[in-house]
Amino acid sequence: MEVLTAAVDAIRKQKPRKIVVLTGAGVSADSGIPTFRGQGGLWRNYRAEDLATPEAFARNPLLVWEWYEWRRSLVRDAEPNAAHRAIASLGDALVVTQNVDGLHQRAGSQNVIELHGNLFRARCFRDGARRDAVEAFAELPPHCACGALLRPDVVWFGEMLPEGAFARAGHAVHEADLLLVIGTSGVVFPAASLVSLHDGLSIEINPQLSALSSACTFAIAAKAAEATPIIVEAIYAGTDRGSTT
Ligand code: OAD
Repeated sequence: MEVLTAAVDAIRKQKPRKIVVLTGAGVSADSGIPTFRGQGGLWRNYRAEDLATPEAFARNPLLVWEWYEWRRSLVRDAEPNAAHRAIASLGDALVVTQNVDGLHQRAGSQNVIELHGNLFRARCFRDGARRDAVEAFAELPPHCACGALLRPDVVWFGEMLPEGAFARAGHAVHEADLLLVIGTSGVVFPAASLVSLHDGLSIEINPQLSALSSACTFAIAAKAAEATPIIVEAIYAGTDRGSTT
């Protein structure tokens, strides 16, 4: 594939050291987790207004929780794929993800900014106190010890990103020598605007053209699990990062 070869050449020439990886649902598609907008995407079958807004939760917390418990069970049964693992092997890279599935961390990435929260945390609807919520809840909707409802600790439409997350991500993207953009349609803001903060080498991996393809130096039309290990291998070649294996 010509674009992949050209991207590998560019990496070998530039020898990037500061790397940021921006990911979306497509990086987990190869683990069997549905995306939002593509074929079989969640927003093709469900209405975000009914399931992923504070108003939807206020109206029907049980419906919202049933949907999140289903998504949580899908992710629990899934495994990180070759793309997650290759990204994790770049130990000092920053991963900025829109995903709430925690698969980057399960693959071993330690430096992860979760722009949209995490499915396996919940927070008190009254005082916002967060808690881990790895196991399925015995009863839905779940309640906090204080008696108030718990809600998933994710960002819903119309809500702010976690405090400081965007600023930290933006600073790192601006400073990076290489930005990898993997598996995002690039239509949800402010996450999508991060790409415009970078003016160096940027490489997209996505089987389809996205809203960010033309902003990237190279747009590789391939699945994340196929192309990411090749790109990561190129990053290792010619640097003193050691081996990926
Ligand atoms: P989308 O579903 O909008 O886009 C997924 C992208 O992944 C598409 O561009 C696909 O072409 C691409 N894709 C599909 N399979 C792939 C594969 N095997 N390898 C690589 N790419 C693949 O998901 P996001 O861009 O992550 O927000 O969506 C952003 C946000 O919109 C989500 O975080 C979520 C959603 O509504 C909230 O819930 C707040």
